[in-house]
Amino acid sequence: MTTAAVVGIGDISGNHLYAIAQNPGIELVAVCDIDPARAEAAAGHWNVPGFTDVEAMLAAVRPDVVHVTLPHYLHAPIAAAALRAGCHVLTEKPVAESYGAGAELADIARTSGRTLGVCFQNRYNDSSIALRTLVDDRPYGRVLAGRASVWWHRNASYYASSPWRRTWREAGGGVLINQTIHTIDLLCWFLGAPESVSGVAANLTHRDIVEVEDTATVTMRHPDGVTSVYFATNSHSSDAPVELELTFESAIVRLQGGVVTATTANGAVEVLASDAKATGDRAYWGTSHARLIDDFHARVAEGEPFWIDADAALVSLGVLRDVYVASGLVPAAER
Ligand SMILES: NC(=O)c1ccc[n+]([C@@H]2O[C@H](COP(=O)([O-])OP(=O)(O)OC[C@H]3O[C@@H](n4cnc5c(N)ncnc54)[C@H](O)[C@@H]3O)[C@@H](O)[C@H]2O)c1
Repeated sequence: MTTAAVVGIGDISGNHLYAIAQNPGIELVAVCDIDPARAEAAAGHWNVPGFTDVEAMLAAVRPDVVHVTLPHYLHAPIAAAALRAGCHVLTEKPVAESYGAGAELADIARTSGRTLGVCFQNRYNDSSIALRTLVDDRPYGRVLAGRASVWWHRNASYYASSPWRRTWREAGGGVLINQTIHTIDLLCWFLGAPESVSGVAANLTHRDIVEVEDTATVTMRHPDGVTSVYFATNSHSSDAPVELELTFESAIVRLQGGVVTATTANGAVEVLASDAKATGDRAYWGTSHARLIDDFHARVAEGEPFWIDADAALVSLGVLRDVYVASGLVPAAER
């Protein structure tokens, strides 16, 4: 049995709270939000103590695992406080709002003797596991290249509901770091950490409402000459299914809308895998939070390391840093 607390009772916190509730091996012992109404509502709903201050929560209820579901700029300081208090930490992506802050947190985690995990839950999708298995087992030969695109929609009311999402200081970026870092993470997980990155990011259609970029194109060179091209935007009219394609020596394998298909040289198309279907208006967030949370708590309970640690999470953050700096959006020294 592990105990858990969730800090930050906003949009994504429900994914954590419901995953904790469905796992008989995890006991929720506290919730925390700086907004007293949110803290109180969650405390009442889950029948646990509610706090408005993390330090007070850590002093009163030292959970085994602190789930950090906060604005990006608070991930590193609050994760560090929890690690120093002797807790393990599962933080939402990104590990921090900048590469520098994430690297500092990685050092703190290493010396703390506690486990720090980062919530890249899409690595637990059946489709992602199928793609990674194809790369490793090579039934279609070596992987040669990848491409991916994310065409989503974010409007003024989305940013108004959580103003931290608008700014470089608090969000550390826009479409790349907030909405689509998962897809960069998957490309790097499938193809290897990039040896070089080129990219351009800009705010094309959201200039009146946010500082951060809403559209980006990235190219990466991965080990063994493998290349990838990536496009992401928040300027589409709706949220289209994420598309990701890997070119192998003898097949093109495509992930679209959670379904993986392989097209071989003779044109035959075979369905290889399909994600469990999520329902509701947030179905595009996927079904894998619970899988990742179950796995993280199981590793902690067994005293084993968790594979998506700060160093793993810094790979995608490093890609973003390179694109933001190359695009002149942030000075290199601040990343
Ligand atoms: N893994 C995913 O697919 C996914 C999806 C959505 C969001 N996220 C991530 O989850 C995190 C939170 O995003 P969100 O959309 O839920 O944000 P949100 O703005 O809806 O919620 C953040 C909450 O944190 C609270 N908060 C702010 N400062 C605090 C403090 N000092 N102490 C305690 N509480 C404080 C706010 O009051 C708010 O309730 C972000 O890192 C985001 O990128 C991940």
